[in-house]
Amino acid sequence: MAVTLRTLQQRKQDGAKFSVLTAYDACFSRLISEAGVDVMLVGDSLGMVLQGHDSTLPVTTEQLAYHTAAVARGNQGSLIMADMPFMSGATLERALTAAHALMQAGANLVKLEGAGWLADTITVLKRNGIPVCAHLGLTPQSVNAFGGYRVQGREKSDAERLIEDAKHLQQAGADVLLLECVPRAVTAELVKAVQVPVIGIGAGPECDGQVLVMHDMLGITPGKAARFVRNFAADGGDIRGAFAAYDAAVKDGSFPAAEHCF
Ligand code: KIV
Repeated sequence: MAVTLRTLQQRKQDGAKFSVLTAYDACFSRLISEAGVDVMLVGDSLGMVLQGHDSTLPVTTEQLAYHTAAVARGNQGSLIMADMPFMSGATLERALTAAHALMQAGANLVKLEGAGWLADTITVLKRNGIPVCAHLGLTPQSVNAFGGYRVQGREKSDAERLIEDAKHLQQAGADVLLLECVPRAVTAELVKAVQVPVIGIGAGPECDGQVLVMHDMLGITPGKAARFVRNFAADGGDIRGAFAAYDAAVKDGSFPAAEHCF
């Protein structure tokens, strides 16, 4: 049965975990969805892993829509979440234009990076029938403002603001939250403070779902892997086996382990 937003809400209610992986084309979309991964994220990480940029900033709506359409064609029942590109939350008009293109390309929900200031945009997207995931914590589109890819919410005041933002965005209509690179203790508090499913990357096992970039979990991203990455192809198995192992490890709670957390 196809995964929907209600599936994720039900999993949260049941205390069951769900898995998320990035996907960018029809071939991998088929393999990932056949492996049972619940959600595929057409992430703007494609700017780095596919296009070779050193950030996600150059990625456009047109490129994300192109990859979303390819992922939709290969999909075998996963929920498809598509990233809104850099600056698409700057005005309501930009947000609506980007979300419109991504939903028409085949997304089931869109993901927007930012903080509490996204509330009005989320409310308008929801009014137009567009489910929204709000991406908080380390938001890579703000890498220049952060001065690098750094763990967020280490200071008490930052952690408190993060939790307030999460509650505010849920109130505004966010269906899902995604937390990136946040200390595990802060995540635990945040997850308790909201009712919507929370997806984590480098945010600890307390999240309801986990996401990794496909190239990272296959061990093919050049350079040193981030602390939160596990290479699921390290045992020499094939690509299908790595996707299935990831899905199983998220669902049985063995990933992320303590060594993947901050
Ligand atoms: O673009 C992406 O792949 C993402 C994940 C890192 C969460 O936003």
